[in-house]
Amino acid sequence: MQGGQAQCTSPPPPSERPFRLVLLGAPGVGKGTQAGFLSQRLGACHLSTGDIFRAAKSHGQEERSAAMSEALTYMSAGRLVPDATVLAVVRERDQCLNCPCGFLLDGFPRTVAQAEALEKLLDQEGHALTAVINYDLPIEEIVERLSGRRTCRGCGAVYHLVNRPPQKKDVCDHCGAALYQREDDQPQSIRVRMNAYQESTWPLIQFYRQRGLLTSILAHGAPAEVFQRTLAAFNGAAAAETQKHP
Ligand code: AP5
Repeated sequence: MQGGQAQCTSPPPPSERPFRLVLLGAPGVGKGTQAGFLSQRLGACHLSTGDIFRAAKSHGQEERSAAMSEALTYMSAGRLVPDATVLAVVRERDQCLNCPCGFLLDGFPRTVAQAEALEKLLDQEGHALTAVINYDLPIEEIVERLSGRRTCRGCGAVYHLVNRPPQKKDVCDHCGAALYQREDDQPQSIRVRMNAYQESTWPLIQFYRQRGLLTSILAHGAPAEVFQRTLAAFNGAAAAETQKHP
């Protein structure tokens, strides 16, 4: 899922055991980066609500609904978009939740109300989450990741000035379009986003822990190291699942 009106592009053959995952963690912890790796490895549909809003931004104002324009105002300031708007956007893409290859939710849910709505949506479709992965990192490292992030205007690929630089300065390796700094990666918006995370998203850790779905992973180290840690955690979860349902 690339955002805006994007639909799934010819999904790979249905997986025998589709993974239905939620990626949690503070802004900038590396959820999108890990979602990219996981989506390739698991063949699951990647749904990022942040990407959907950013893609809507690249369309002209006349093409946007009033709710989407309002959402973009919240987003630029680093505030959470109202639940009703987010849920409407997710419902429009319910084919992702039904994808036979599974899904990776990145940036959704972000409030308890969203998590409850997701639970209901999945229940109605007869699906359940496989796991919720919570990425952890000290705040200083998160701020460093956010302030060095650069994003491609063309394909949305994500770089970092130090940790993941493009081969040619300010130019995307994949599509050759220009890189830019996200408006909400400015220091004043980062502070607002961190507060919104603490207040609204942090309670989801307890919400999913109570449901026995939470796996916490240290997001320190290179992206490939974090990915290996994620896979190791999965292998542990899969082994436990096999013991429960041999
Ligand atoms: P969204 O796009 O979801 O942003 P976010 O959660 O703030 O997360 P980010 O995209 O900033 O970071 P990330 O964790 O994906 O990190 P990344 O992989 O890019 O949402 C944006 C806004 O939309 C919200 O603020 C809100 O307004 C609105 N919104 C979206 N969903 C919503 C919802 N459900 N409800 C309400 N509002 C909603 O990595 C960051 C940087 O670090 C990159 O430069 C990367 O290259 C680098 N990096 C990654 N991993 C590593 C590593 N291991 N080592 C070194 N560098 C690394």
